[in-house]
Amino acid sequence: SGAARPRLAFLGTGYLGATYAICFAELGYEVLGFDIDAAKIGKLSAGQVPFHEPGLDTLLQANLASGRLRFTTSYEEVAEHADVHFICVGTPQRGDGMGADLAYVEASVTNLARHLKRRALIVGKSTVPVGTAEWVEQLVAKHVPAELGIEVAWSPEFLQEGFAVEDVLRPNRIVVGVKSDWANGMLYAAHKGVFDLAASEEREVPLVVTDFATAELVKVAANAFLATKISFINAMAEVCEVAGGDVTQLAKAIGYDPRIGNRFLQAGVGFGGGCLPKDIRAFQARAQELGAGEALRFLHEVDLINLRRRSRVIHLAAELLDRPAGPAGPDLSGTRIAVLGAAFKPNSDDVRDAPALAVAASLAKAGADVRVYDPQGMENARAVQPGLAYESSMNDAVAGAELVCVLTEWAEFRNADPNALGALAGAKRVIDGKNCLDAVLWARAGWEYRGMGRPAPA
Ligand code: UGA
Repeated sequence: SGAARPRLAFLGTGYLGATYAICFAELGYEVLGFDIDAAKIGKLSAGQVPFHEPGLDTLLQANLASGRLRFTTSYEEVAEHADVHFICVGTPQRGDGMGADLAYVEASVTNLARHLKRRALIVGKSTVPVGTAEWVEQLVAKHVPAELGIEVAWSPEFLQEGFAVEDVLRPNRIVVGVKSDWANGMLYAAHKGVFDLAASEEREVPLVVTDFATAELVKVAANAFLATKISFINAMAEVCEVAGGDVTQLAKAIGYDPRIGNRFLQAGVGFGGGCLPKDIRAFQARAQELGAGEALRFLHEVDLINLRRRSRVIHLAAELLDRPAGPAGPDLSGTRIAVLGAAFKPNSDDVRDAPALAVAASLAKAGADVRVYDPQGMENARAVQPGLAYESSMNDAVAGAELVCVLTEWAEFRNADPNALGALAGAKRVIDGKNCLDAVLWARAGWEYRGMGRPAPA
């Protein structure tokens, strides 16, 4: 059944699953979203997206109204509904800080498999260690009779927070790891809406069909490359700092070479979020297990460069506040610092592994009275770092501060008037942790400005 327009289920309605469920309903599919978290399912069923993602709530409401989109906490209902089941559950970092924890993948696949009564395809989307698809196949075989013909496939996703709707509806490629023509055909049908939309806009979406291992590796390879690109430019920032160069100009100049490209070359306080940091660690751990640890040793260096940028902000703060570092690091007690930004990037409320929040915590640990403000990330930040002081506006955070650190490049901060903020601040010192401010403008307004990997304006 269903080869023409298969019915779809998305298991796990976190960031990935909820976005896919909503967007595929928008593309015309009959979609069922599943989660074990009844509160999440309640919210989604009521038309509320449980996280911040531009444009998603409107699509959710429209597709609930159309009847194409429903949510459930019942595996039985999922098994009954779908021809293609996408596994979108989380694969968090393991307790040892390196590998990925597959407990949620195991639970969702096992419980789904137990309820399946007809032929269906189970497609992994979560980011996993290479080899997981084969393991899922064995897991399925343990729980369903072979006669049902249940198959497994892998199809990684590449969506970026803040652009998720666009990335799902108009992806720059679709990758599927399959073992049979049937699975390939089902996955094609399950993505037909994406290909049709592209055709109607005279675009093409490349389809890459691979084996399981390649499909799994494509995902982590892409994220490892992006992380490496960011750490590369941050390494150049470190060199610029001692050599007296300007990394923003350097990035621009090398980026004109199309082989290098100008995107993802923004030096700053480094990368964070729920993906890049955890993925490069899990990738190293897996390569090590497979006996190719040496091949990815450079990713350890990528990680270290990234974390050094956070320390750089602490040192800059100590320098600007004239608090030389002792053996235990700088003593910032008695100073008041505004931290603008908590989310790992703008247009997101996600604070997972966020450099801004990590720096805020380090500044507080060094004794500073830190006041944090973020346009969307406050609630999540409070949950992760309850010990910090949070202000309800940029002005409140800056009022009386002897140093302002801009650590997430929200438009609200980029467009802030340095004269107005200067009138509120206790002293006009600013660290631009994202190189997102107009340095000359701020310097003209009397601010002592420090960027990342660039000299102070003359
Ligand atoms: C990342 C990838 O970009 C997506 O392709 C991938 O699908 C996703 O992870 C995932 O694995 O699910 P995301 O975590 O949403 O997406 O965020 P990015 O836009 O990649 O930014 C990651 C971090 O790098 C942010 O902290 C950002 O501020 C930082 N960054 C990015 C830089 O410091 N410099 C840059 O030039 C670009």
